[in-house]
Amino acid sequence: MFLTYILLVAAAFGTSYSAIIQNEYKTYKDYKLYRIEGERQKLQNFILQTMTELAEIPFHNIRGSVAHALIAPELAETFEEGVRLANLVASVEIDDYSEIISLERGGTRRSGGFSWTAYYDVDDIYRYLRNVSDWWPDLTELVVGGKSYEGRQILGLRINTPSQNKSDNKPVVFIESGIHAREWITPATTTYFINQLLTSDNPNIRSLRDQFDWHIFPTVNPDGYHYSMTWDRMWRKTRSKSPGSLCFGADPNRNWDYNWLQHGATSDPCNYQTYGGSKPFSEVETKTLSEYVASLENLLAYVAFHSDAQILLVPYSDSEEHTDNYDDLIKIGKTSLEYGKKVNGEEYGGPATAAEILYKASGGSMDWVRAKLGTPIVYTYELRGTYFHWPEHRIPEQGDEVTQMMLGLFAEARNLGYY
Ligand SMILES: *[C@@H]1O[C@H](CO)[C@@H](O)[C@H](O)[C@H]1NC(C)=O
Ligand SMILES: *[C@@H]1O[C@H](CO)[C@@H](O)[C@H](O)[C@H]1NC(C)=O
Ligand SMILES: [Zn+2]
Repeated sequence: MFLTYILLVAAAFGTSYSAIIQNEYKTYKDYKLYRIEGERQKLQNFILQTMTELAEIPFHNIRGSVAHALIAPELAETFEEGVRLANLVASVEIDDYSEIISLERGGTRRSGGFSWTAYYDVDDIYRYLRNVSDWWPDLTELVVGGKSYEGRQILGLRINTPSQNKSDNKPVVFIESGIHAREWITPATTTYFINQLLTSDNPNIRSLRDQFDWHIFPTVNPDGYHYSMTWDRMWRKTRSKSPGSLCFGADPNRNWDYNWLQHGATSDPCNYQTYGGSKPFSEVETKTLSEYVASLENLLAYVAFHSDAQILLVPYSDSEEHTDNYDDLIKIGKTSLEYGKKVNGEEYGGPATAAEILYKASGGSMDWVRAKLGTPIVYTYELRGTYFHWPEHRIPEQGDEVTQMMLGLFAEARNLGYY
């Protein structure tokens, strides 16, 4: 029975595997977003062993007994047939995904400048960082965290305000953002946070700035982000040419050299989401960025931003085992979320490990940093949104939330004696 449906679905999908080369911004016209329910194991077999192996599925996720998948119009019939044969139940949640995408192309841009009322491409973000470093040369400097496959820099901003005692080595805080290209709200909130650190009158924010040596990287997957802005809104990976394959890119958050490919990652280069790469650190972005992070002395905290599960994750992402300061991380995380909630009343899930509330995934930056560098405070924030969409005029809402979350994080870390 199971085999029959695999063969049937395979035959139908096989013939319609869509072309990899395209020449204009993909509209996603009439792509349907399905919600699929059923027994967990069946769901996993159907989504992971059948669909994503046989067809191009630009988006899918599985949480417990509910999955979501974005399906091209020419695959819809086969997909629905497969759902029936697998004894699952599907309903259409979004009838035409292009409508979601088109909501996002019209933000208000400041001419010749930068704002938090629009999404900006990587060159604009880098121009913003350069301008900031010119404007506040005593407080900031540009830093290069690595490079990309297409030859871009992974550009960041270091904010290390002069302290009275020059020989004081401030604890280092690293902010990683935009590792998944389509999670556009993350570079936007990260530049927002930079702006808060530099311009806010709030004494708590100023003191947050002055206490640490910040290394902030708004877009650590610049090729992928640019591709998502110019060709394919749902692009998540890097843009390297996969060896021995016609497909491009690896998931840079499955490519770090820790338990590589063990959970929640695939060795199929054509998988739209979770291809782990040809080997650990096969991607120049993760390789160079990891070297940069490893070179930082006195690294107190590593914070990664993703969207849009609206949860706070602590390491490890691929195991039920707890870190030795798990209780502290939960406590600090709770305070961080309480501070964030005061801004908009928004509840986040967690803090918890991904294995507990999301799904197991190996090869992520957070786990590598914790396991290899022993960094005490390590978090992944999943921000808010609807299938990666977040209205441009509401960027400041999440920017303020994140700023407060950072205040809460470091307030509680101080209470617990981490610095
Ligand atoms: C550079 O930054 C300053 C300070 O925020 C701002 O006033 C100015 O408009 C910016 N210039 C550009 C070109 O973005
Ligand atoms: C400056 O900091 C160093 C190292 O933390 C310390 O040994 C020294 O006493 C401090 N000097 C002053 C004037 O506080
Ligand atoms: Zn992500």
